[in-house]
This record gives sequence, C-alpha cells and structure tokens, in this order.
Amino acid sequence: MPVINRIAAFAEDMTAWRRHLHQNPELGQQCHETAAFVVGRLREFGVDEIHEGVAVSGVIAVINGQGDGPTIGLRADMDALPISETTGADWASVNEGKMHACGHDGHTAMLLGAARYLSETRNFRGRVALIFQPAEEVGGGAELMVEEGVLDRFDIREVYALHSAPGTALGQFYTTPGPLMAAVDTFHIDIKGVGGHAAYPHETIDPIPASLSIAQGLATIVSRNHNPLDDLVVSVTMIHAGTADNVVPETAYLGGTVRTFDKAVQAMVMSRMEDIVAGQAASFGVQGTLRYEVGYPPTVNDPVATDFAVSVAQDIAGAGGVDAAATPEMGAEDFAFFQEKRPGAYLFIGNGDTAGLHQPDYDFDDAAAPFGASYFARLVERALPLT
Ligand code: NI
Repeated sequence: MPVINRIAAFAEDMTAWRRHLHQNPELGQQCHETAAFVVGRLREFGVDEIHEGVAVSGVIAVINGQGDGPTIGLRADMDALPISETTGADWASVNEGKMHACGHDGHTAMLLGAARYLSETRNFRGRVALIFQPAEEVGGGAELMVEEGVLDRFDIREVYALHSAPGTALGQFYTTPGPLMAAVDTFHIDIKGVGGHAAYPHETIDPIPASLSIAQGLATIVSRNHNPLDDLVVSVTMIHAGTADNVVPETAYLGGTVRTFDKAVQAMVMSRMEDIVAGQAASFGVQGTLRYEVGYPPTVNDPVATDFAVSVAQDIAGAGGVDAAATPEMGAEDFAFFQEKRPGAYLFIGNGDTAGLHQPDYDFDDAAAPFGASYFARLVERALPLT
C-alpha cells in the first residue's frame, strides 16, 4: 500500500503547518512557540493526553488505541539552526539568523499528520506516544527527556524516528541495522609555554612547535592505532596561537572532533590522546592540558526493530524504494539517547533534489510529508494490530 489515502487528502494542511513552522524557527531548548503550535493542532485532532514542558519546551502526546497493548514511541525534533536563510521562499524565516535548515519543520509536520490520522482512525490497540523534542542540534533534548524519565513514565516499548534526506528520491527510505550515525566528541588542548621576544627564542618556551607536533601525533591515532577496516575520524579543526610577527606567544590552543561508532574505539582514542598530549608536551617542555568532551553517543538501530521498520517503509515506498543496507554516516543524532534505552529504528526519508542539510538555501520539500506521515501511521497499525 502506498501513501494512505486519508493522509494524502490532508497533505495541504501538512504543508501549511510545515510552512508556518519554517517561517517561525526557534533554537535549542527554547522551542516554546513551536510547541504551542503543535499543542494547538493536537487539541484539534482530539488526542487523549498532552504533556507540555517536557525537556523545557518538548511535548508528549498520547493516543489510545482500541483495547490494551504496549506503547510505541514516535519522535520528531522541532529545533532550527543559527543560519540566515537565503531561500527567498514566501514562508522564509522571519526570525533573522535562525532557520529550519535541517528539515525539523518537516519532521514535526509529518508526525502531526500521523497524529491526526491515528487520532481519527484508531485502528490499533495499545497506545502511541508522540514525542515532539526540542534541542536536537544543540542542548541534548533527547538526553534530557530520557533523564526526565519519559520512556518509563509513558511505558514506551520501542522508539522510531525519521530524518529528511536531500539527494534521495522523494518518498524513498534508507537505513541500516546496527550503527547508523556516529558518536561525536570534541576535544580542547591548551598549551602553555613561556612567551617573549621572537628575536631571542632561547629565552622562551615556544608553544607553537609543541602544537604542531601534537596535531601530527593525533593524526597517527587513526593511521597507526586503529583497525583500518573500522570507521574513525580524528580531526584537528582549530589551531590558534600568536598575535604578532615578533612575539613568541605564551599559549596555543588546538581543538577538534572525534567520530566513532564503538565505545571501545572511543576509549582507545581518549587514552591515546592523553598520552600524546602529555608526551609531546613533556618533550617540548610546555604544559599541555586536554579537555575531552563526550558528546552524543552513536545512533545504533536495533536489528529486529529495523527489519520491521524497513518492511513498513516498503509498504509505503515499494520494495525497490527502501535501501535497508545503507552506509553509516559520520554525522550525529541525539535520538541515540532514546535508542540506548529502548529498541528502535531511525530511517532517512528522501527529500528529492533539494539543497543539502544545514545549508542556507535548504527547504524541506512538502511532497515528502505524506510518505513520512503514512510511514509513522502504518508503523503503529502494524506494530499494534487490532486482530
Ligand atoms: Ni536534523
């Protein structure tokens, strides 16, 4: 079965909701207006429960099916990015410096579409929990929801989410079982030497050669310490030092990112980084201080939930419209925090020939919304069948 007829019938409404959200983007945990809009629609649909202020500005809504059964969690993220929009669309952002450049406006509209259909039809047993989450891009909204006990409070058994994918045909899907997106950590290294006149280097302890040596040393974590068949990124993306051509600076700074799919690899990187910074600092006679910040964990799809989600996506897109063995990506996603606690699956949904995510000219293609809403709705009906 392709797109659900009833959902196709109100596609224009989803477009209107999405464009309203696009025009009024909010950042991080401060998605209050967005949440108010979501709550307004959910009230119109007649969902059974609405819980506001979850993880600051998140919303959880519950729709009861017919009879007892478990609860399935469906999640959409609501936050935008600090980017100045260049689409020139009629519904372009009116909040200068903020825009929905990652399609979270579309994710929210698709989940609202599913909510409307499920609330009208209730062709399922048990319950569905609709999770509208702030702070995916920054601020860890999913982590906060997990900390607030959302999964236990609503007795959520499994969790599912979609993300827009520019460059994939409209209404097609892709995912993979196991690791799908990377863990993202950041590191900061402060080097302290002794500054002075650049004409008298012997009277200084120059932090710059030490920084360069540390940067080169860090590159060997990937090339020398790591299994070449596994995935790992260690990138020094910042080196800052000095203010003048005739001054040896006192300090230098290096920063960057680490992307992993595996806790053991992450632990190896942290340990090697400590050793390289300490060893190189000692050899140059400078002080080296490493601050390693562990960020979002890897997004790991449960194999059983992913098989199920893929078969649901095939209902919507046809067997040829779903790639169930996609290559994992080095981006990150805080849905990972839900998936650390519950089995679930994260799928990408094709958004056609649009600009890339996080670009100032990206605009979610509304034609994808009926596919995404149908996927969510069908998922609930198949996971919690009436007979
Ligand atoms: Ni996103």
